[in-house]
Amino acid sequence: MTGFFPPLSRPGSQRGRGGVAAGTGGDPFRVLGLEPRADLADDEVHAAWRRIASATHPDREDGGDLPRFAEAAAAYTVLRTRSGRGEALADRHATPPAASGQATRPTGRVMHGRPVRLALRTLTAVAAAVGAVAAAGPHPAAPALVTGIVTWLLLTARHDLAPAAVRPPVRWQDQLPGGGKMSERGSGREPTSHERRSGQPWDASYHDGPAPWDTGHPQPAIVRLAARGGFAGAVLDAGCGTGENALHLAALGLAVTGVDVAETAVAMAQEKARDRGVEAEFSVADAFRLDRLGRTFETVLDCGLFHSFEGGERPRYAASLASVTAHGGTLYVLCFSDDGPGTGPHPVSQEDLRAAFSRGNGWHVTAIEPDRVQTRYHDENGAPAWLATIKRI
Ligand SMILES: C[S@@+](CC[C@H](N)C(=O)[O-])C[C@H]1O[C@@H](n2cnc3c(N)ncnc32)[C@H](O)[C@@H]1O
Repeated sequence: MTGFFPPLSRPGSQRGRGGVAAGTGGDPFRVLGLEPRADLADDEVHAAWRRIASATHPDREDGGDLPRFAEAAAAYTVLRTRSGRGEALADRHATPPAASGQATRPTGRVMHGRPVRLALRTLTAVAAAVGAVAAAGPHPAAPALVTGIVTWLLLTARHDLAPAAVRPPVRWQDQLPGGGKMSERGSGREPTSHERRSGQPWDASYHDGPAPWDTGHPQPAIVRLAARGGFAGAVLDAGCGTGENALHLAALGLAVTGVDVAETAVAMAQEKARDRGVEAEFSVADAFRLDRLGRTFETVLDCGLFHSFEGGERPRYAASLASVTAHGGTLYVLCFSDDGPGTGPHPVSQEDLRAAFSRGNGWHVTAIEPDRVQTRYHDENGAPAWLATIKRI
């Protein structure tokens, strides 16, 4: 979760930029012979890929059709998940027809385009090439297969090289005192390690479409936890983002407060609460200074925040949480785990959790269970996670 990724690493976040280009051979739907529909199912996409793969596979007696096989492999990479399909559909709507079929003009445009996105897509192409070659097996035609995928990348690179009409980057410094954007409670804070690393404030994660962790739904792990009665009394959601978990708990009748340093996320959470007619309080606050809230909670939730903090930040955060958790109360931490495969960024070990929340600083870890965290860039199964239950002593 930035807690997953820095903002720039958002996969396909820029409408009109994600996925394969529309146009001859570039539209992933067209490549797989699929109708571009929002309700396409995984099975339909998989079946289309299997159909084309078996008709074009280089192992066929007739030698197959390597460029088509490679193109289909790349298209399948884009369309295999629901979020990938959503972004490819958005691309189709956002790509002006004139752009289709234009020649690639890489020189001098990279710096004005989206070099990070280009790098990500290059990585995708490399992954697709490796996957396709693995599927083709030790075949003399493998180099041609790779050439097909590289050709796809070159043909579609114009989307990364086009002049970027985006807002100027927001620097975390602009949001600190003097920048005038932080609210009183959030102001005066140091940038977090994540903000220093990415060079952007957390708020920037919410500027250009959904953040990588913002699936638009509560995390299934939290839904299950709530269903088995895990939440009681006043609930604090620390680092609530746009509030899906908090809103789920509030809809169950719990008194929920969500706090986050990202003003945009807090505003979005407040708007969702209004739209859904759910009573929940959301405000801008720094998780390192929760004492400033001036109250305590029986249950505290951390979904994706702890794992974004590094060594020195963790004891400070644990102390801040302790200052607002009632004695005997419960803290739940849902974080990426280090128990792969497919671990997310910032994987956390059980030892990390036990070191951060110990009896010495007022906590007792009563359970650490394996679970999953869903993101916009993993498939439906999400990434491996720990769900830690930690008692305030
Ligand atoms: C990975 S996101 C998870 C958001 C939300 N819990 C969810 O599951 O969708 C981490 C969130 O923590 C927030 N955050 C980061 N540092 C924070 C801090 N010091 N105080 C409060 N919130 C913070 C970020 O703005 C971001 O919204």
